[in-house]
Parts: sequence; structure tokens; C-alpha cells
Amino acid sequence: MRVLSLVNQKGGCGKTTAAIHLAAALSLAGRRVLVVDLDPQAHATLGLSALGDSGPSIADVLCERVTAREALREAPCGLSLLASSQSLAEFEDESARIVGPERRLRGALEEVADQFDFALIDCPARADGVLTANALCASTSAYLVIETGAFALQGALRARALFEEVAAQQGSSFDRRVLGTMFDKRTRFARELLVALHARFGAEMFDTVVRSSVRLREAAACGRPVFEIAPRSTAADDFHSLAAEVLADRPRIGRELAPASSLLRGPVGPVGPVQTTDRIKSVQDLRSANANSDNTSGIPG
Ligand SMILES: Nc1ncnc2c1ncn2[C@@H]1O[C@H](COP(=O)(O)OP(=O)(O)O)[C@@H](O)[C@H]1O
Ligand SMILES: [Mg+2]
Repeated sequence: MRVLSLVNQKGGCGKTTAAIHLAAALSLAGRRVLVVDLDPQAHATLGLSALGDSGPSIADVLCERVTAREALREAPCGLSLLASSQSLAEFEDESARIVGPERRLRGALEEVADQFDFALIDCPARADGVLTANALCASTSAYLVIETGAFALQGALRARALFEEVAAQQGSSFDRRVLGTMFDKRTRFARELLVALHARFGAEMFDTVVRSSVRLREAAACGRPVFEIAPRSTAADDFHSLAAEVLADRPRIGRELAPASSLLRGPVGPVGPVQTTDRIKSVQDLRSANANSDNTSGIPG
């Protein structure tokens, strides 16, 4: 079972939307997929039409009141869900009295590992804390979700550094990937930012970037993935394409990475020679699109 965490210490950047829709797309591609809602705000639970307080939740699992198997719920698109509830706060309080509290989720997921091909963990909007530590400890990959808006590059580097710190503290080894979301290709700013993100994160960036789509907001509002309400939307296309990349991906666990602290130094903007892989071709396309108009974004081109 591959365990993927969607992380960023910033709220509202599209983590929950990515967790639900990547999970649903992997499920529609025939994989057995579990969604773990590790955010006390329970947005993934609500986004999958499930009420957090009506049955055993992930909090009961972490507090060892029930097993993960006992807490599984059915969700749309053939997904299974470990729902969030307000009692996640109780686990956070109790964790000071537990030995190795950050290993609880990993233990729980091992128990259902034969039932699923993927588990996707929707993380709370913070880098510290016992819940995020649990997610990173259980993960084979951490996907940093970046909203392609103002200050996104600086935010991405800061987020990356924070999560590297947590990983180093607990000796976790997981693969790192970066996903751009809420992309509006009509704005020059967003296009230039995407070039900058590719230049900075290189092969860690997914080729797929999730475009801004009102359908995703509608899906969240009615508690069903976009595949059920608008299967032919750009949002559905984007998440199918992301799922295809994830399925083709071979996690490079233990791969050497430049320490995030070194990434934080130096100028912000596209760096290094332009590469000639297929991945960068699309970025070159973006560069030439950008060259046709004035640079107004403040990102050096
Ligand atoms: N690609 C997108 N296009 C338009 N709206 C989006 C997109 N991704 C997320 N949203 C909306 O933005 C808000 C925050 O997204 P969410 O996934 O809950 O972020 P997070 O989990 O990081 O707090 C939600 O209302 C969601 O519907
Ligand atoms: Mg969320």
C-alpha cells in the first residue's frame, strides 16, 4: 500500500480537494483507495458526504478504542474513509502521555494494508503537532500542495523547509512531490509562477497542475467528488491526469535532496540551465507565452 500525505501549513490551498479527488480518480482507475481525514476541521469527511460524529472515527483509532478495520466507512466513487471528528483534539491532548504517539497511524494503517492499494491522508494546516507527525511517519510520499497565487513560491519554500524539519526530527524517509493547484492560465502571473516552481522544484513538480474550477467548489458544497456531478469538467480531467502520473510514479524513497534550508537562500525565481526533458518543454512553452507580453509579475523571467 502506498501512503500519500497532502501537506501545507497554509489553509485554503487545496489540500482537501486534492486528497478527495486524487483518491477518487485512483479509485475510478480500479485501485482500492482509503481516505484518512486527519484534520479536526473534517472537510474531507464532509466533502465525502459523511458525518464525522456518527460512528467510529480516526480519533477512536488513534486513541486505540477501535481498530482501523472497525472504523472504515463507505464513501462515494468506491472509496473507503476513516472519518475525522472533534475528538481528534482529545488525541492531541492525550498524546503527551503516550509513548511514540506519532507512530499510532502507521500501526493502524499496517492493519488494513492488505485491503488497499493507496491511502491518502488529508492533513491539518500546520507543520508541527502530533497529527502531522503521524501523517509523515506513516507516509511513503508527501505531496506539498501549492496554490499558484501571490507569494506561492516563497510559501512553497517555507512549507518545504518546515516539513523537512519535522521529517528530520523523526527520521522519516518519504518521497517528496509538489502539486500546483488553483491555476488560472489566463493570468501572466500564474504562468510565470508555474515556470518558477518548475525551475525551483524540478522533477519533484507534477506535470499536472490543477486548474481553477468552480465545479470543485460546487462538489465540496454538495459533498460529492466532481466525477459524480461533472464527469466531463476540466477538474475531472486534471485529477485523472494527476492519477495517471501517480500510478506511473516510482517513489524514490531515500533519494538525496538539497536541504530545504539551502533552497531558502538565493534569489527567488527561475534558476539553473533550461533542461531538455519533456517535462521542461511545457515550461519552455510557458516561457515563450510569457515572452509575448510584458513582465508584470515581479518574478524575474
Ligand atoms: N482548483 C480549484 N479551483 C477552484 N476552487 C478550488 C480549487 N481547489 C480548491 N478549491 C476551493 O478552495 C477552498 C479551499 O480548498 P481546500 O481543498 O479545502 O483547501 P485546504 O484543505 O488546503 O484548506 C474550497 O472552497 C475549495 O472548494
Ligand atoms: Mg483541508
